[in-house]
Amino acid sequence: MKEKLRIYGNERLEGEVAVSGGKNAAVAIIPAALLADSPSTIENIPDINDVHVIIEMLKWLGAHVDFRDNTLWVDPRTVDKFNPPYELAGKMRASYYLAPVLLGLFHRAEVPLPGGCDIGARPIDQTIKGMCTLGAKVETLGGVLVATADEMLGGDIFLDMPSVGATVNSMLTAVSASGLTCIHNAAKEPHIVDLANFLSSMGAYVKGAGTDVIRIRGGRQLHGANYTVVPDQIETGTLMIAAAAAGDDVLITGAIPTHMESLSAKLLEMGVNVASEDDWIRVRSNRVFRAVNVKTQGYPGFPTDLQQPLSALLTVANGTSIVTETIFESRFRFLDELRKMGANVRTIESSAIITGVNHLVGSRVNATDLRAGAAMVVAGLMAEGVTEIGGVSYILRGYERIDEKLKSLGAHIERIQYEDPLL
Ligand code: EPZ
Repeated sequence: MKEKLRIYGNERLEGEVAVSGGKNAAVAIIPAALLADSPSTIENIPDINDVHVIIEMLKWLGAHVDFRDNTLWVDPRTVDKFNPPYELAGKMRASYYLAPVLLGLFHRAEVPLPGGCDIGARPIDQTIKGMCTLGAKVETLGGVLVATADEMLGGDIFLDMPSVGATVNSMLTAVSASGLTCIHNAAKEPHIVDLANFLSSMGAYVKGAGTDVIRIRGGRQLHGANYTVVPDQIETGTLMIAAAAAGDDVLITGAIPTHMESLSAKLLEMGVNVASEDDWIRVRSNRVFRAVNVKTQGYPGFPTDLQQPLSALLTVANGTSIVTETIFESRFRFLDELRKMGANVRTIESSAIITGVNHLVGSRVNATDLRAGAAMVVAGLMAEGVTEIGGVSYILRGYERIDEKLKSLGAHIERIQYEDPLL
């Protein structure tokens, strides 16, 4: 059986919706819990496929894990393997976060090279650089990252670009390396800060997360911790864009407004009314937008993960918008799907030129990756007529109950199972 989303467009959204815990924080924090000498309890974990995959990997490695009501309990004391299977690891990007953790536990790790969304080459040279700087020997043999280290010592890691994955992996390596490690040109995303806070709650010495330089004094005994994961920055942004696209008036709760400033500013520039305080963001929209220019950057710049949903919104703005994607080299494939709905878009090198049209037309389209799926949902909410989105599994990897959340705001959206005609 396959699944698709069917969206009857042009419904108004209004009401209140709560944000789930951060996917990209959870998939970094959960592996880190294996470094403790006792169990951890981690709350606000989103109930999404990527989390289920990482939990299956932890169980395969020997940990005892319980996950219910968005709370994960993990006892790492029975972990006795260092080589998670390809069938699990190949399903997601963050599985390679286990490499530095297992290296710290066993002085060896054999982890399949990461999977993840097809939005570019996504090399891991900076991760390898970080681990080698601290004393590991790393090879990639037959699609498997093999890391060994008799002893790891702190050192200076200079990342060529503020890579999220390389920053996470360098942090997870450094906590097992004796002495001081400084990670220079570190990524500053909210999920990096969340990982640092979790490691600190386990007894690690981690300073500077959220700035360009993260300092870690490793080699300390780490204990289990009780922790609550940060709200999902990208889900928050996706809900804000959906509210602008089809809203009248939507209140997004359990969010962190400061994480959303680049998007809030861009929506205000477009003529959308965005207000926020404490832990809520209110989006009011008359569905008339000014065209704007957007350039993706690492945090606190405009997030690449919101480029696709915002590009969908810009297809009906008044005027021509230029969206420049500086992070990934092929994150515009979804524009072909938007063209099927009548969007007037073309790409020149790393920029998309989007000329607004009066409205999109509901069509049969596909999600080409996780955030492209979110873009198609935004487009479907705005379109005249019915839109069917294939590749729902992509969307469900990263958004907890997104169809139910939108339905609770008034969207007419259905999840439909169907026989795959090719099977
Ligand atoms: C993380 O991917 C996120 N995934 C991505 O979110 C997000 O788009 C990305 O960070 C940027 O914010 C997770 O957190 C699980 P990078 P990651 O390393 O770590 C190049 C989603 O939708 N690079 O910051 O893979 C790389 O090719 C996903 O939730 C190297 O050249 O991103 C890319 O062009 C999609 N060598 C750029 O840096 C390296 O060793 C940024 O990549 C590492 C990265």
